[in-house]
Amino acid sequence: MSVDREALMRVIAVINGKGGAGKTSITANVAGMVANSGFRVLVVDSDPQGNLAEDLGYTGTDVDDEGQALAAALAFGQPGHPVTDVRPNLDVLIGGHHLDAAAAALSAAKDQAAARLALARVLEPLAPAYDLILIDCPPGIEALQNAAAAAARWALVPAKSDASSRKGMLDVARRLDAVVDLNPGLDLLGVVLFGTGTSAHRIKEEARARIVEALGAEDVVLRTTIRHSEATAHAARERGLLVHELEDEVRKGPSWWQIRRGEAEGGGGPRTAGGVADDYQSLATEIVDRITAAEQALAQEVPA
Ligand SMILES: Nc1ncnc2c1ncn2[C@@H]1O[C@H](COP(=O)(O)OP(=O)(O)O)[C@@H](O)[C@H]1O
Ligand SMILES: [Mg+2]
Repeated sequence: MSVDREALMRVIAVINGKGGAGKTSITANVAGMVANSGFRVLVVDSDPQGNLAEDLGYTGTDVDDEGQALAAALAFGQPGHPVTDVRPNLDVLIGGHHLDAAAAALSAAKDQAAARLALARVLEPLAPAYDLILIDCPPGIEALQNAAAAAARWALVPAKSDASSRKGMLDVARRLDAVVDLNPGLDLLGVVLFGTGTSAHRIKEEARARIVEALGAEDVVLRTTIRHSEATAHAARERGLLVHELEDEVRKGPSWWQIRRGEAEGGGGPRTAGGVADDYQSLATEIVDRITAAEQALAQEVPA
């Protein structure tokens, strides 16, 4: 029954019971940033909606099995086979509608403890090859959220600043509590305010105060917020680019021959991409710093 928690020390579940909180955008872009700086990263798409495919741009390609392999791994204990090099240093366990069947199998399983540990079992043998593993959780679908929470060392909770009600945070806290007997080391890495207006300082501060009140920890809200930009979000998803990749295109602009051929639309992009890319870079740094600090504190506790 026991799980090799040491191997799963760098697993983060990006979790919030609500849709539209920024889970998938944050998972994809933080993973891309961390991979870009040379770390080996695995992303797990545990959402039957499979939105991660759009952010990483592999929707409908040969590698997109719409969650079939991951569903078999979860429901029947088959080994997980990540798709490698979706970006340099970035591999993916692909999600999609097949995960609905896996969720049904996990919910109906007699041995609920084993069902909750299904994703932990899939990740255990894969984890040593990676520096960081991020799990994009579905909204709803308790069985898959539980499996993610039971596999993770850390929970990262994105929340919209304008709607991050106390109730939403209490729901997340309840979800984490549900697996605490199976995964006592699970800890809250932090809450990220997502889609905030740059001038909405007051709203941000109010949201912070509500979250602190609900979760009872002063330093629970991360310093970095991801600014609101529908233009950037839309262009990135439409082109299957991460925000920093979109920013590269914006900076380069269309080439003279694209303009001459009337293909200039492919280049360029929203001017706000640079600011959003900066936010993701700062978030990635903050996440890695928090994990590193926690690991160092732990190393000091344990006498050599
Ligand atoms: N910086 C941003 N500003 C505004 N909207 C964004 C931003 N980034 C992403 N979005 C949009 O917000 C919506 C929800 O984001 P998503 O990451 O899919 O949330 P979740 O995975 O929690 O459902 C998507 O339509 C996405 O395109
Ligand atoms: Mg999502």
